[in-house]
Amino acid sequence: MIVEQDINILIVDDDLKIADLLKIHLLSIGRIYCRSVSTAEEAVQCLSQEAYDVVISDLRMPGINGMQFLATVNEQFPKCVKVLFTGAGDLSSIHTEMLNIGISHHIGKPWQKTQLNLVVNSIFRDIYSARKLELMDDELNLLKNDRDFLSQKLLECKTGAVTTLRELIQLSSSTIANHCRRTSILVTNLARRLNKEREFVEKVQTASLLHDLPLVTYPGHIHQGLETYMSEMERQSYLKHPEICANLLGNIEDFHTMAEIVRYHHENVDGSGFYGISGDDLPYESKMIRICDCYDEEETYNKNAHHSTLDYMKMFRGKWFDNELFDEFYEMMSSYNKLR
Ligand SMILES: [Fe+2]
Ligand SMILES: [Fe+2]
Repeated sequence: MIVEQDINILIVDDDLKIADLLKIHLLSIGRIYCRSVSTAEEAVQCLSQEAYDVVISDLRMPGINGMQFLATVNEQFPKCVKVLFTGAGDLSSIHTEMLNIGISHHIGKPWQKTQLNLVVNSIFRDIYSARKLELMDDELNLLKNDRDFLSQKLLECKTGAVTTLRELIQLSSSTIANHCRRTSILVTNLARRLNKEREFVEKVQTASLLHDLPLVTYPGHIHQGLETYMSEMERQSYLKHPEICANLLGNIEDFHTMAEIVRYHHENVDGSGFYGISGDDLPYESKMIRICDCYDEEETYNKNAHHSTLDYMKMFRGKWFDNELFDEFYEMMSSYNKLR
């Protein structure tokens, strides 16, 4: 018999000599700590002072009998292995009751060494399995705590990065900051209207807040994105801002999806945008930003009124803008007045 770990056993029998004989046998196995007492009352006292892995109880005892005592043990120490120690040959009449109070084994009196060792082996296996499971539970909880901690830290890093970039935009150009803020409000409302889950809404909200980040490094008159007033060199430079923005955001861990969204925010579904990407090759979120971004640019820089902006944009339904998304946007905006 191999005893892998220390095991603490309590034996209660009104015939203390029999209890001691069993105790001597168990102690000879090694790594077992054993205590024997003659009454259930004494045993209860022991249990209140020390933790036991196994409680072996005689069935017939004066006062509290073995079944009553083991039922109490089961209530107070459910993990403790409960063993009935009895000379009664036939236990079928109390079998159901034994199961109900968690008695998993019994040792007969007088015991045969081979039969006793089989029972003891089985008890030890149960204890080792339970301990391994507890250990795995503890390790799993530690891993969960670590994962939660790292997720929280990553979230804090992301939030900090977004705040820094937003403030950088605000410090550099209130025109771009306000445009990004208004576009983000529109995109967020559109995403909510489409019943998108929270993670999606937060992603498009952040992507649209940062979508024109590189423009802050361009001369002031380019901030408004009016291509007709740009020199050819400026226009070529302006065409690169979605790509530059994607590359900047792509440097931040966990911003890769957002980088791809901003990369295509000037693409049209018919392929007539900055980089000629079209239809299903465009991220859905980029198509959302394309519509809201265009609305804000038209209203702000081209000085179009709300309804004439919508009418103008409607001409590009299915060309610049995804049909279904535009219809949803149009319906949302038809009931809107100005955001500012
Ligand atoms: Fe842009
Ligand atoms: Fe924009």
